[in-house]
Amino acid sequence: MADGFAIKQAEFIGSCAHGTPYPQPLPFEAAIVGKSNVGKSSLLNSLCRNRKLARVSGQPGKTRLINFFLLNRSFYLVDLPGYGFAKASLKEQRAWGALIERYLESGRVKHLFLLLDIRHAPTKDDAAMYQYLLYYGIPFTLIATKADKVSRAQRKNLANAQAKLLTGRPYALLYSSESGEGRAELVQRLGELWEDALRLSEE
Ligand code: GTP
Ligand code: MG
Repeated sequence: MADGFAIKQAEFIGSCAHGTPYPQPLPFEAAIVGKSNVGKSSLLNSLCRNRKLARVSGQPGKTRLINFFLLNRSFYLVDLPGYGFAKASLKEQRAWGALIERYLESGRVKHLFLLLDIRHAPTKDDAAMYQYLLYYGIPFTLIATKADKVSRAQRKNLANAQAKLLTGRPYALLYSSESGEGRAELVQRLGELWEDALRLSEE
């Protein structure tokens, strides 16, 4: 399944703030969630092999809007602002919550990639996001980012340990935007999800 799938084309469609209408929905839309600075925008860029697509920064809180990217002129991959950065005021946290909630509740997102930093145990915010996904029944894939930051020997165990702490099930996909590790696997996964969504929309 999805063996020949590749990401051939990616373009930025637009950003949505609170209250902005979303672009016309497509049969498949996936989004990237996770705490601030975990590597969401970097993952999108590395998947699409374009470092300039989404803005990346060493400072947490870089992505503040919901950013829609159209891949292969067929489906959306959405880069979301991260949660839980220390400098955010209560007002900013509330604004983030309202923005994300409205998006997740819209029913348009078919799959979420929930990112965890391979080096850190999941936070309370990660747990809250996980509960939220369960509550809304949104399918998701866990991804352990920044795999290049830990030794090769530890990678798999650490990624799976973080996943287990969050969900009770020890599995996360390993990813490094620096080295491209995990990219082929994630492209394949995206291809399968896209094909499944297409099949459903045609039934
Ligand atoms: P917000 O937009 O603030 O929510 O952050 P984000 O999750 O989009 O993170 P972003 O992609 O902006 O990356 C944050 C920092 O981590 C940047 O300095 C990136 O260069 C770095 N980074 C991201 N992915 C990797 C990775 O796989 N390996 C390494 N070594 N650094 C990474
Ligand atoms: Mg970002």
